[in-house]
Amino acid sequence: MTQITIPRPDDWHLHLRDGAMMQGVLPETTRHFARAIIMPNLVPPVVTAADAMAYRERILAALPEGAQFDPLMVLYLTEDTDPADVAAAHATGLVKSVKLYPAGATTNSHGGVRDFDKVRAVFETMAEIGMPLCMHGEVTTPEVDIFDREAVFIETILDPIRRKTPDLRVVMEHITTKQGVDYARSGGDTLAATITTHHLIINRNHILVGGIKPHYYCLPVAKREEHRLALVEAATSGDARFFLGTDSAPHADHLKEHACGCAGCFTATNTMQLLAHVFDAQGKLDELAKFASQNGPAFYRLPENTAQMTLVKTDEAAQWPDKIMTEAGPVTVFDPGFPVYWHVQP
Ligand code: NCD
Ligand code: ZN
Repeated sequence: MTQITIPRPDDWHLHLRDGAMMQGVLPETTRHFARAIIMPNLVPPVVTAADAMAYRERILAALPEGAQFDPLMVLYLTEDTDPADVAAAHATGLVKSVKLYPAGATTNSHGGVRDFDKVRAVFETMAEIGMPLCMHGEVTTPEVDIFDREAVFIETILDPIRRKTPDLRVVMEHITTKQGVDYARSGGDTLAATITTHHLIINRNHILVGGIKPHYYCLPVAKREEHRLALVEAATSGDARFFLGTDSAPHADHLKEHACGCAGCFTATNTMQLLAHVFDAQGKLDELAKFASQNGPAFYRLPENTAQMTLVKTDEAAQWPDKIMTEAGPVTVFDPGFPVYWHVQP
């Protein structure tokens, strides 16, 4: 197969930031994606329904001319989140999810949750109204090895929460392990998982062998090759529980190439070309529509996009800029380290 047409894709986990950075990176997403779940880890975070409405207006005002793009808003869960505010946000139809960051797990997560019992009432309200909870699934316990933090989270936090609130609909965000894949598969129709572009392509050697590569550092950190293979198998399987969340997370280069570099890979620009490559290499191009365009809206109970996207394979390698120049500084585009022959038809 050298050409494939799919419904226009959506990104179910995206960091747009704000201000100059948002202005610079937005076109990279709106070029290919119809909708995205917009992560709320701004400084300060998007905590209330009013915060989300104001952020949504800033995104709409920054859209490139002619862009057809629907930002799906998310509230950042804190121990003070009011269940009634969550329900009111959901009732607007513009806020689709609440994001749980264990405090200290990742970029701008210090305002997240320390004591999961303090947010129990919010979980119960969300279960009642059918609103999905997006979870950053890593424990922050200093004694737990960073490569084990996802597996330990599933066992000690996620599974107990789901047992106490079985109707809570949960998206395990950016899973990176075989344990994540297996748990998502075990969960029935209240559980789903997003998978990023970069976790389908890199393992931990890419970060560490031959010199430290800050642009491959993200959280959760990429794991061993066996885990990457499990993610590729899950993403390309067509299973309705797995869908695309790029976790495209722009940081200006000077903050990545640093003694204490920020976590995040920027993949908005080349995700669709890379996914076509990965699915083609597996002989699974037929399942690309499910992963990028159909399973996500089905879980979020939204219609599929009616517009389409065509991808073509040619003899020429796809080109994209090495960096996106923003007023907040240059942002390096994820480099898969191999040539890609799939192109998105304009
Ligand atoms: C994200 C960011 O930079 O906001 N970073 C990352 O490495 N993925 C936060 C997150 O999703 O963990
Ligand atoms: Zn993220």
